[in-house]
Amino acid sequence: MKVLKAEGLKKVYGKKVKTVAVDGFSYEFMPGKSYAVVGPSGSGKTTLLYLLAGIEVPDVGRVIYGDIALFSMGDDGRARFRADHFAFVFQQFYLIPYLSALDNVSMGLYLKTGKTDPKRAREILKTLGITDPSKKPYEYSGGEQQRIAIARALITDPEVIFADEPTGNLDSKNSATIFKVLTGIAVEGRTVIVATHDLDLASTCDVVLHLKDGRLVNT
Ligand SMILES: Nc1ncnc2c1ncn2[C@@H]1O[C@H](COP(=O)(O)OP(=O)(O)OP(=O)(O)O)[C@@H](O)[C@H]1O
Ligand SMILES: [Mg+2]
Repeated sequence: MKVLKAEGLKKVYGKKVKTVAVDGFSYEFMPGKSYAVVGPSGSGKTTLLYLLAGIEVPDVGRVIYGDIALFSMGDDGRARFRADHFAFVFQQFYLIPYLSALDNVSMGLYLKTGKTDPKRAREILKTLGITDPSKKPYEYSGGEQQRIAIARALITDPEVIFADEPTGNLDSKNSATIFKVLTGIAVEGRTVIVATHDLDLASTCDVVLHLKDGRLVNT
């Protein structure tokens, strides 16, 4: 587990009309800690997560994980590196509709290693409260589907987990459960970085980072 360091990240979208989505973001994310990124709509939360995860390339600045600079690698190398060390949980789950929960989770590991481990997939789902993993995604509630998506991320044993508005479509009870799961993962020595609108949920993380116009305003 290593430090994830952002140095002067800047991302500008658009050619004619330019939007500065992230504007000089520097920070060190420590292993074993959970971080909430909060801020109004358009403040750059999603863009920041994409930059930190190496999905988007910054116009200026660097992301360093341990002693590796993410953007010194090419696209393929960075994709490989991301698969080896990071996992990303999206608001829309992106579960495969025709596969069972178990197979969706197995697929997460298969994409990384070319192998499956149904026993482990079942165990992880169970710890997240999914005891019957044989159903298709639409047969689960939204909260359950999000937990399946988290299980699919966890089975790859990621060192850093990013989650972008993972509770955006959930009620408050399910949202609290998801945050408990995510902050619990950090206790295992992983780094957890979650973008959210919800300040109450954010406060359950170890650190809350406030973004405004792509800038870190206080912590
Ligand atoms: N692919 C893109 N092309 C052009 N502009 C973009 C793109 N992605 C984001 N932006 C702009 O960059 C700014 C930051 O967007 P971002 O999605 O990071 O904000 P956010 O904090 O995640 O917002 P929300 O809370 O609504 O999800 C916004 O002004 C947005 O319109
Ligand atoms: Mg967003």
